[in-house]
Amino acid sequence: MAPDRSAPKPGCAPAQLPAHGDVAIAPVPFIDLTLQHQKIAGEVLDAVQRLFSAQQFILGDEVAEFERETADYCDAREAIGCASGTDALLLSLAALDIGPGDEVITSPFTFFATAGSIWRAGAKPVFADIDPATFNLDPQAAAAAISRRTRAIMPVHIFGQCAEMEPLWRLAVRHDLATIEDACQAIGADYRGRRAGVLGTTGCFSFFPTKNLGGAGDGGLITTDDLHLAKRLKRLRVHGDLGGYHHVEVGLNSRLDALQAAVLRVKLARLEHWTEARRANAQRYAELFELHKLLDMIVPPQELPERRHVFNQYCVRIREGRRDEVLAGLRARGIGAAIYYPQPLHLQECFASLGYRAGDFPEAEAAAREVLALPIFPELSQSQQERVVQGLAEVLGRRPAGQAGIPAPKFLNAKKRVA
Ligand SMILES: Cc1ncc(COP(=O)(O)O)c(C=O)c1O
Repeated sequence: MAPDRSAPKPGCAPAQLPAHGDVAIAPVPFIDLTLQHQKIAGEVLDAVQRLFSAQQFILGDEVAEFERETADYCDAREAIGCASGTDALLLSLAALDIGPGDEVITSPFTFFATAGSIWRAGAKPVFADIDPATFNLDPQAAAAAISRRTRAIMPVHIFGQCAEMEPLWRLAVRHDLATIEDACQAIGADYRGRRAGVLGTTGCFSFFPTKNLGGAGDGGLITTDDLHLAKRLKRLRVHGDLGGYHHVEVGLNSRLDALQAAVLRVKLARLEHWTEARRANAQRYAELFELHKLLDMIVPPQELPERRHVFNQYCVRIREGRRDEVLAGLRARGIGAAIYYPQPLHLQECFASLGYRAGDFPEAEAAAREVLALPIFPELSQSQQERVVQGLAEVLGRRPAGQAGIPAPKFLNAKKRVA
């Protein structure tokens, strides 16, 4: 995930307990990676030790095994490790010969790297608006953006839920386009029983530390069922070297570190468990919003039928222009929250030459004004979630500050009936 510079650093909860009303409320971090690490520290250190003993830091067995295990997990024929999610996108574009003069259709509501990689490849990012229900690329808008220069569609499985792939795939087939899945936030997500990463020509993953499968630094991976493409991707990540310093094309130096692969293998074995914990947390938020009667002000994320949302982020919409006030109110109460993303990509300064204007993509712009990400990490406790929702209720004026806990069910307060 893109580091949100305004958000608290992962794992850094405010040191003091802010007082609200007359009750001190314990802080809730936006994410705390130390809790996950504590449980697996021994295994991670063993894996690192194993690597240091072998001194095989570049590619080698550790990377090959991780690639095999990840290909299995995603049900892909091939997986190719690389240096980052950004490079996974860039390498995919290079392997598909997409460059100057070409257009790639994508979402304006995503992390910068999605469109940045298209630009870096020398091609033109062409934005199409999102579906307000899912924040994902709207297939009809994508269809309207196709021109004779279009070479690929790059849908993003934003926040961990797959884009509406079937119409996008049909569109790609009809116009002879490649589909590059930006699955950087969506490892383990399903669409109609198939995993993210095998829903397009290539699937691109990031192992940025705060991702559901996060490394000890940067890392990325590409999945594909196309063996020819896989071979080319493996060559492109080592400067286009066929072997023996025989360079048949110009590639990159973009390999997944063996050290990252060793750490990620330990974590991959637990990914399902963590994903289910994220999903359970999402379910609990929905129940708490209802209990606190917040659903007129807060729109929880929707999981569409035949999807498995993996909740890399849990992004709600805050209505009536109150998002920034709510963010400030939560932070004042020591509750971590963040905005993904405050500025849609068509309005980024570096893309000014593309000629987009405010108002071009109303849904993406509305999302940028309304979204708020709440803590969702797997180790988040029930009482922490209750504090988050209590904080929301206070800021939205639904309960007095300092009143702790969720309301007791009515029967507890009912007077005993005298027989
Ligand atoms: C949607 C999306 N695309 C691309 C990337 C880029 O991945 P990385 O940071 O590993 O380069 C990220 C992660 O930050 C992302 O969230």
